[in-house]
Amino acid sequence: MKRKKIVAGNWKMNMNMKESNDFVSKLSKVSFDNVDVKLAPSFTNLYHINSMLDSSKIEVISQNMHYEQRGAYTGEISAEMLLSINIKTSIIGHSERRKLFKESNKILSKKVSSAIKNSMNIVFCVGEELVDRKNNNYFDVIKTQISEGIFHLKSNEFKNIILAYEPVWAIGTGITANLHQIQEMHEFIRDLINKNFGSDISNKLKILYGGSIKPNNAKEIFFLKDVDGGLIGGASLIFSDFISIVKSANEQ
Ligand code: 13P
Repeated sequence: MKRKKIVAGNWKMNMNMKESNDFVSKLSKVSFDNVDVKLAPSFTNLYHINSMLDSSKIEVISQNMHYEQRGAYTGEISAEMLLSINIKTSIIGHSERRKLFKESNKILSKKVSSAIKNSMNIVFCVGEELVDRKNNNYFDVIKTQISEGIFHLKSNEFKNIILAYEPVWAIGTGITANLHQIQEMHEFIRDLINKNFGSDISNKLKILYGGSIKPNNAKEIFFLKDVDGGLIGGASLIFSDFISIVKSANEQ
């Protein structure tokens, strides 16, 4: 089944207002037909970047959200707040949130529920640590993250879900998982969804790869059978690199 590719830039805690402006004013002038481009800036830049990209097909998405609608949660942002500025998609479960901010599968499943309740879309991230790879239990780790994070959803809610496989040991390290490792895990994930929710859902599900995607390796990664695009960290901060990666997906 042909699935349209996605390339999403995750800026993490980078890019101040001026840097964002410079990048996005260039980005707003390009368009691609065969790839859906998304950009996840910091919360402080969401509103103005979304306005700058108003007439473009590029979707501005959030890096995170809280599971409550409102209340005494200092420093947090809710789905309702995101929707109020027209942000309709959030990344949930990035490994940096899991690791540095101690977000458990249980917390993430609540975030997923809140996003779905608000009809938001989700880029749900999973990924094993190096120690899991070395101990050969990486399939189990991914299975647990997925089943505890999103298996409470109803079948018809999967249309709101994009999965992203980001092995922690490949993030920001310059070490990309090799093509065999990537395809093997993506196939495993699709199969897991197939077994639990059926082939219609698993065939339509988009699974992105993330972890040191650069202009020189993007094409071969995007070419893999079960890879539907990428979640790009470091390379999404450099305009020419990001565009080159988007082009690699657009050509397929
Ligand atoms: P890098 O591309 O910098 O490895 O980051 C990947 C990532 O974490 C995207 O969410």
